[in-house]
Amino acid sequence: MNEKTIESILKENRSFAPTQNFVKKAKLKESDFQDLRIKAEENYEEYWADLARNNIHWFKDFTETLDSSNAPNYEWFTDGELNVSYNCLDVHASIMPNKKAIIFESEDGELKTFTYKDLLEEVSAFSNGLLKLGVQPMDRVIIYMPMVPEAIIAMQACARIGAVHSVVFGGFSANALRDRINDAGAKIVITADGAYRGGKIIPLKDSTDTALEQDCECIEHVVVLKRTNESIAMDEKRDIWWDRLIHGESKHCDAVSLPSEHPLFILYTSGSTGKPKGIQHSAGGYILHAKLTNQWVFDLKDNDVFWCTADVGWITGHSYVAYGPLAAGATIMIYEGAPTYPHGGRFWEICQKHKVTIFYTAPTAIRALMKLGDELPNAYDLSSIRLLGTVGEPINPEAWIWYHKTIGKEQCPIVDTWWQTETGGIMISPIPSETATKPGSCTIPLPGIFADIIDESGNPVTEAYQGGYLVIKKPWPSMLRTIWGDNDRYVETYWEKFNNEFYVAGDSAHRDKDGYFWILGRIDDVLNVSGHRLGTMEVESALVAHPEIAEAAVVGKPHEIKGEGIFAYVVPKGKRPLGDDAEKMTVILRNWVAEQVGPIAKPDEIRYSDNLPKTRSGKIMRRLLRSIARNEKITQDISTLEDESILEQLQGKD
Ligand code: WT7
Repeated sequence: MNEKTIESILKENRSFAPTQNFVKKAKLKESDFQDLRIKAEENYEEYWADLARNNIHWFKDFTETLDSSNAPNYEWFTDGELNVSYNCLDVHASIMPNKKAIIFESEDGELKTFTYKDLLEEVSAFSNGLLKLGVQPMDRVIIYMPMVPEAIIAMQACARIGAVHSVVFGGFSANALRDRINDAGAKIVITADGAYRGGKIIPLKDSTDTALEQDCECIEHVVVLKRTNESIAMDEKRDIWWDRLIHGESKHCDAVSLPSEHPLFILYTSGSTGKPKGIQHSAGGYILHAKLTNQWVFDLKDNDVFWCTADVGWITGHSYVAYGPLAAGATIMIYEGAPTYPHGGRFWEICQKHKVTIFYTAPTAIRALMKLGDELPNAYDLSSIRLLGTVGEPINPEAWIWYHKTIGKEQCPIVDTWWQTETGGIMISPIPSETATKPGSCTIPLPGIFADIIDESGNPVTEAYQGGYLVIKKPWPSMLRTIWGDNDRYVETYWEKFNNEFYVAGDSAHRDKDGYFWILGRIDDVLNVSGHRLGTMEVESALVAHPEIAEAAVVGKPHEIKGEGIFAYVVPKGKRPLGDDAEKMTVILRNWVAEQVGPIAKPDEIRYSDNLPKTRSGKIMRRLLRSIARNEKITQDISTLEDESILEQLQGKD
């Protein structure tokens, strides 16, 4: 989030009421939501209990809705039993077996569709395969795959047999994969011989091999999907081809009945330390919220084709691709490759070809596509689209208006959805038939979500435009349950600040005079690069892991497309490189960081200095570094700097 964006958001006062046409055809009406809001206020637990009973198929009903006895480790529907995969597949396959569940287009244009019946059969066969490998309930399974239907099949199969998956984004490096495998103590990795991206092949199996060379003793087997036909090494004892695994397996596999609080998955996300956090979600509460928000926010109807462009490696790809829309019985579109491959109109071509009706993407993609000009989207028939969504970072009003006009032709509501890996599903968002939207605001909390903005002492901010901490005041079903293996960090990160009373999201926000929420950005050392969360410490530890680097400090800097770019200050162990040497070093370090973390973590700019500015107590003066990176006037006290010539080096003047 950059200053320019904040400034334009502060000035933004346009408002767009839902169009009559949309309201008339919407599945759920304004009055439905009013009823929900009233009920949530009146009897919070009954509100969620009724929704859970009416929307989820329980193998065993629950008697207690919310258990707060171990707060802030809340439990929901604890003695209830269900199966998430059953709720996504069996319930639909039995009544509408031929409804399309997935429409898949690969980067090279190959098409595949799966009906609910097909998907159930594929998931069942793969579940049987995993059982054959000895996978038991609670075993952890890493999924490191391209954005292909098999990634969803693998996730659903884990859910079906009670294994806990942890999807690792295919863009992460072998090192990042290894850390996640070890932290989760996983038994199985599911991967592919490669992934297509922008016409190139990403060698997922090679990275897996590299990760496993480095003491991942917990891994027993690697399942490999044949995708690209690249030649790869197969370890006879450890590795098995996907096709081989399911060969001869029955297409039937009973979904096991699991307690509501059985962990469904772990998903790693960045925090303010160098070590990613394994966010743990539970079956019952998660699937309830994922299903409801798909229906409420996206107004899902029987004939919709819902395309959420997120990769399954992120939470959006869990809640709005692999789980939520399927629980809601929707047809989803998935696309494997890069948005602009082989041409800048690829996304719009897909919308036209598959008659996408709901399109959900991130501001970074919207900005990148906007930059390519209007001719591209205008060359395609986008009239099937009736609803647009955005997620991941604050959207600048300029991009919002472009999305509204050029893609939505001024007919489609835009739902700007605020939520996090930790919240499991959308928390603050317009309801498209109910809420007037404003460019840059995620508007108001969903029914049953008690979001607020509070000051340092925990009191709600009452003034319009007064900034504060964004908090959630009541536990909600799809909240994270803990950080895998580190409950202290869970309590510390999200609860301690306000005496374990409120969930602290880590964002600052304000409300306007109409009570609309505007997210201003993270308050911790977390960057939001292209809608993906990245800890400054993570990039710093990658940099200092390089043998020639002594110290590093990383700050965010506004970036036209990515929202936030990465700016690194580096102190080499030897002589400070200048000119060509500095450029060479920068190439080396950028590649190094890509290897350590993944290409998304590559610094956009690197500046070399003999020292970093520190306070008397030895803390790096990050605010100063941020100002320098942004070419702002320096207002910080720099009298404590040991050596003022460092300032010139940091400013790139020397
Ligand atoms: C952080 C969560 C939620 C899925 C994708 C990112 C920022 C998210 C919005 C929005 C302004 C947003 C917040 C949040 N964020 N959505 N609509 N408007 N900011 O998930 O990686 O867990 O990141 O993304 O800063 O805390 P994530």
